[in-house]
Amino acid sequence: MAAIPALFGLLLAAVVSGQDVDITPREAVRRIGDQLSVLCKVPYPIDSCRMTVGTTSYRLIPENLQGDVVYTGQGLKAGQCGALIKNIKEEWNGNITCVLPPPSGNIELVGSMRLLVARAPGEIQLNSSPQPPFKEGDTFMAQCVVPNGRPAAKITWFLGSEELLHGTHQPVITSEPGSDLKTISQNVTRTLTDEDDAKFLVCRAEHEALEKPKEFRIQLNVNYAPKRQETGTVTIFGLKLGAEGKLNVTVKANPPPTAEWSIGDQVLQAPRQSENGEIIAQAPLFLGNGYFNITLILARITKEDVDRTYFLRVMNDFGREEIAVRISTMDEPAARKAKSSYLVLDIYGVELDTGAIVGIVVAVLILLIAIFLAVFAFATDRWCFAGRSHRTDIPDGADSEAPLPSHDDIKGSENPSHDHGDYISNGDTKHPEKKPDTAV
Ligand SMILES: *[C@@H]1O[C@H](CO)[C@@H](O)[C@H](O)[C@H]1NC(C)=O
Ligand SMILES: *[C@@H]1O[C@H](CO)[C@@H](O)[C@H](O)[C@H]1NC(C)=O
Ligand SMILES: *[C@@H]1O[C@H](CO)[C@@H](O)[C@H](O)[C@H]1NC(C)=O
Ligand SMILES: *[C@@H]1O[C@H](CO)[C@@H](O)[C@H](O)[C@H]1NC(C)=O
Repeated sequence: MAAIPALFGLLLAAVVSGQDVDITPREAVRRIGDQLSVLCKVPYPIDSCRMTVGTTSYRLIPENLQGDVVYTGQGLKAGQCGALIKNIKEEWNGNITCVLPPPSGNIELVGSMRLLVARAPGEIQLNSSPQPPFKEGDTFMAQCVVPNGRPAAKITWFLGSEELLHGTHQPVITSEPGSDLKTISQNVTRTLTDEDDAKFLVCRAEHEALEKPKEFRIQLNVNYAPKRQETGTVTIFGLKLGAEGKLNVTVKANPPPTAEWSIGDQVLQAPRQSENGEIIAQAPLFLGNGYFNITLILARITKEDVDRTYFLRVMNDFGREEIAVRISTMDEPAARKAKSSYLVLDIYGVELDTGAIVGIVVAVLILLIAIFLAVFAFATDRWCFAGRSHRTDIPDGADSEAPLPSHDDIKGSENPSHDHGDYISNGDTKHPEKKPDTAV
């Protein structure tokens, strides 16, 4: 009954010795036809080197470089047993094992690494719930499954052109018992908004065995009630009494909304015009991206039209929005055009038109110039400050309003006509054609 301890000893030796063989890499992914080099090392000289690839055991000899599995490394004396494996085949998927002689005794040492021969995954499946069309605020969930890849494929999600990072769950990798093909699935959840409408949700699968990533996409069609673009009463500016007036309001909606205008006691369902043809309610005009332009046309604006409030009701199956619209014969206030002046206007609670603002700016500028001139004059003893002190070096002929000339300039300006000639003869000797000037 010595067999059991003996077997135990053998196992122990194998386990211990297995750790002594340093094998690199421990795992590799290669495509069919690729090559791979595997190296096993021990810290003593060896006299043989074997490598099992697939079901075949190769005896590797440094001098023999024939075939698909050949020796690589710095020699057996260096304790290196490596294999360059060329033209990788599907059936080599699995363990590659090197077998080396032990430093002493007669139990061979083994090292193992794992070669994954890449295999492209199957078709992408993308399931979503609820089924489209969706509604704003819905919690949307999608599951992307990329089956049977070796190794597992990598999934990334996109919404429109942007990678989707929020709401992605941890990917789950599964495989059939006894198979090394891996199926990866990943879920995303998202609360849908109007911004998501018409965008594509894309599940992209990348894999070593695929030339380019595979994609599966679904378009999100998100329904939502009409949304107004500005809060409060909409005011249409710049209309003129007696002229035609267009009251246009922009709303966002999906599906397309219907519009209904109330003008005094008249109700006009777009597209429709009043009995006298003076008021036309136009059908909502699609601007793209979920936006609609809803316009009411008044043939001739009267004083009464300016005084009243128009009510626009916009609706679809998902809700409604009511918008009060007023018209004004004034120009659009500057506050709407430039956000910066809005603050000023708010502080004083006064509506300033563009003219008033320009007036203030001009006044401030004039004041600034006046201050500047006063300071300048004071500093240089001009005008009323001239009596403060006297500078004797200013020539009598110098214009008192010109900037204070420097010493050199003063000297030069004593005889301006000669000065010009000197400049040309001294500095411009390369231009003889200018010489006649000097002579004059
Ligand atoms: C491959 O090697 C690992 C240990 O490295 C082992 O668990 C596995 O059973 C081996 N597979 C085959 C097919 O021999
Ligand atoms: C992903 O979604 C599927 C079906 O929608 C569900 O059965 C599964 O449990 C989900 N997995 C995770 C990790 O949420
Ligand atoms: C009306 O149409 C004009 C011109 O396209 C646009 O600039 C303006 O913003 C619109 N007004 C509203 C309230 O949508
Ligand atoms: C909306 O329609 C009106 C009248 O048809 C037009 O004058 C205006 O420019 C349009 N606005 C936009 C933003 O297209």
